[in-house]
Amino acid sequence: MFTKEIEKIFPNTTKVIPNKDLEIGGCSLVELANTYGTPLYVFDESTVRERCKTFIEEFRSRYPETHVAYASKAFINQKLTSILSEEGMGMDVVSLGEFIAAKQGGMDTSKIHLHGNNKSPEELEYVISNNIGRIIIDNFDEIENLSNIIKSKNCSIKALIRISPGVDPHTHSYISTGILDSKFGFAIETGDAEKAIKQCLEIDGLDLVGIHCHIGSQIFEIEPYNDAMDISVNFAVNMANNYNFILSEISIGGGFAIAYTQNENPPSVKEYAEIITNALKNACASNNIELPKLIIEPGRAIAGPSGVAIYRVGSIKDIPNIRKYVSVDGGMGDNIRPALYESEYEAVVLNKIDQENTEIVTIAGKYCESGDILIKDINLPHIEKDDLICIPASGAYCIPMSSNYNMNLKPAVILVQDGKSEIIRKRETYDDILSLEVF
Ligand SMILES: Cc1ncc(COP(=O)(O)O)c(C=O)c1O
Repeated sequence: MFTKEIEKIFPNTTKVIPNKDLEIGGCSLVELANTYGTPLYVFDESTVRERCKTFIEEFRSRYPETHVAYASKAFINQKLTSILSEEGMGMDVVSLGEFIAAKQGGMDTSKIHLHGNNKSPEELEYVISNNIGRIIIDNFDEIENLSNIIKSKNCSIKALIRISPGVDPHTHSYISTGILDSKFGFAIETGDAEKAIKQCLEIDGLDLVGIHCHIGSQIFEIEPYNDAMDISVNFAVNMANNYNFILSEISIGGGFAIAYTQNENPPSVKEYAEIITNALKNACASNNIELPKLIIEPGRAIAGPSGVAIYRVGSIKDIPNIRKYVSVDGGMGDNIRPALYESEYEAVVLNKIDQENTEIVTIAGKYCESGDILIKDINLPHIEKDDLICIPASGAYCIPMSSNYNMNLKPAVILVQDGKSEIIRKRETYDDILSLEVF
């Protein structure tokens, strides 16, 4: 049943069509599923644009010099990139593949930042030759690789170094990155961050413009942002005193939480903006330094609420007094998050949108793993074969983490707006997935 509580985790344009189903962007989801097949991912263009505008406005109204770089790992697609670009967003990428997709989608490469804990020399050379905006240096091997490339190409680059401030954001350990025991960045605590700054400043052609930290993802508490900012600015001030380092830019990464279930209440963008910009202004004022440019990297908070997944029900297995398994035609191949992080989701039955929830079922995927469960024990209307199940908040970290496990095909992705739908990623075919094999 579609309630007011569940409405808030669906895209902005979602409406109930009484006795029928839901519409998003003016398009009936049942019709989309019948036209394009299932599993199907549907993105609402209005929600994408509105989320971009909200981040830009909330941050720039408090701190005009803010660069908003969408973290493309949440979901990258050339059409989506063109929309983000129109909205004035930059982008952060973590691989050559993401860089190429962003460039082909029309993103100005000088607005792209490259992250990653193991960037290959080939990746670095390619992005440098293509005028990348910033490289976020992650480790000592990378400093050496960059130094070699700068010498051999006789070029210059602008870079930030990624530091690990030792702040625990209290999120899932797989998405907590700013603590000492992390594969990312240089820890302040061990002295590595200082050593890295010193090394970078000694390399001609490497213009070290700032520091970056990303403390984790799905962060529901705002205080860790305050701490991370404070620690980062104080560290930069020490580096200014010791090595004449000038802090022109500071990135606080992403991590802005979204609601996946009706009970979750993440901070608003306004609250994140308030704490981050105040922390930065206060830290700069108390150290008497000029305000640097602020960079933020929201990923999930842009893509997540903009997309929904639609599945069709196949087999149903009822184990009396134990559990009723409702199997759908997708699962961990298109959404690994429940299996990987025990993430929770909500669902509605599209073709029974007005019906009361009457039974507790478990929505299972079709992959050959017992752990392939999309939602455990959810209350839904009575479900039958061929019903259509829609899972909201599926726009981030589903398609980009999808796989061909069990040789299943990756789903199609549709963009909707003003009653029109267009395919922005075709459903794979068996020829597609066999085409790389040599036999
Ligand atoms: C460096 C960096 N920036 C930004 C993000 C985006 O995080 P989120 O999608 O939680 O906003 C990530 C995610 O892991 C990241 O590693």
